[in-house]
Amino acid sequence: MIPRTLDELDVAGKRVLVRADLNLPLVDGAVGDPARLEAAVPTIREILRRGGAPLIISHLGRPKGKPDPALSLRPFAPALSAALQDTPVRFAENCIGEPARSVVDGMRPGEVALLENLRFHPGEEANDPAFAAALAALATCYVDDAFSTAHRAHASIVGLPRLLPAAAGLLMQRELAHLEEHLGNPKRPMAAILGGAKVSSKIGVLRALVHRVDTLILGGGMANTFLAARGIAIGRSFHEKDAAPLATDIERAAEAAGCSLLLPSDVVVSETRTAHAPAETTSLADIPANGMVLDLGPLSVAHIRAGLRQIRTVVWNGPLGVAELPGFEHATHDVAAYVAKRTQEGTLISVAGGGETAAALAAAGVADAFSYVSLGGGAFLEWLQGKTLPGIAALAPGGGPQAQTGTAG
Ligand code: 3PG
Repeated sequence: MIPRTLDELDVAGKRVLVRADLNLPLVDGAVGDPARLEAAVPTIREILRRGGAPLIISHLGRPKGKPDPALSLRPFAPALSAALQDTPVRFAENCIGEPARSVVDGMRPGEVALLENLRFHPGEEANDPAFAAALAALATCYVDDAFSTAHRAHASIVGLPRLLPAAAGLLMQRELAHLEEHLGNPKRPMAAILGGAKVSSKIGVLRALVHRVDTLILGGGMANTFLAARGIAIGRSFHEKDAAPLATDIERAAEAAGCSLLLPSDVVVSETRTAHAPAETTSLADIPANGMVLDLGPLSVAHIRAGLRQIRTVVWNGPLGVAELPGFEHATHDVAAYVAKRTQEGTLISVAGGGETAAALAAAGVADAFSYVSLGGGAFLEWLQGKTLPGIAALAPGGGPQAQTGTAG
């Protein structure tokens, strides 16, 4: 589905609600990894360049419909101002009502407003039309620049485009164009690397991928659940006991679909889950009863590399081990280096998605060597399953008030 784009929207002299995704970690009250913040900048700049007034809206965390000072977007105002080379960013301590109205009314040309966390209101996640209307009252048009939240049918994502002329921002366009270019009609054979903790949260994508890829490579806590389901003793390793039947189902579905499933063959085990904890590499048969699997071993990495040798397209979501802990990042970094090298040689298309994955590739120093790294986590996984993302569908031409007025502006 090709959404209406920012260049089709008349923003000159107008207030433009911009749905960004500033859901990124705060470390000691300051913005941590700024990737999503920086990615929001080109659309804001473009609206300013064309004489519009950008009003930035976003969620942060999951405050469950109530204000939570720890999840305030206030620290993002100076960070956004710095990312916009000191453009003034006014902060409104509520995204609707008088606090938002007075900040918006006080904006001078060339300024930006940032409104408080949308999810402080229950109406956001409930897609309450009254909440969407209160947001819409602040502006005359709407730009969605948050591919990474496009899988949520929330008021700021699907409610606003029903009320205001709407378009996809530059980041949203970039994400969709890259995903379509590399994965729309992928070069085969194709592989997926899935890591991260839980099978249960990725069951949909696992079920879909066994029919879409030739090789499915599993790591992280998710692989432990598969090993345990096979009856392998995995000590005190994280795994989901209840998900064992799901893992068995996926194994069967993969076999029936002719998808080869690659599970770890050796692992790195420690008694404590801390940085640089003493660790040993063991075969699956020798995992100690008090040990935890925190990374894959060199044999597993060799098997993964061999499994990828004939592959022409790979998608990757989730680290193979506890990559954020120094000492347990080796498998993720080694496989990432191999994928990056093949990509640079021109023999592999590589697309990764998800915050943890992007952070691991950046730490390995290879993010730029991948064909594309999406900022979407859940949205990326749903896109991979071939699902229609509500946020994209809502931007389709004919979906909003443009249909009645016949104008884009
Ligand atoms: C994300 O970080 O994946 C998006 O911001 C969506 O966040 P959510 O899972 O809390 O809806």
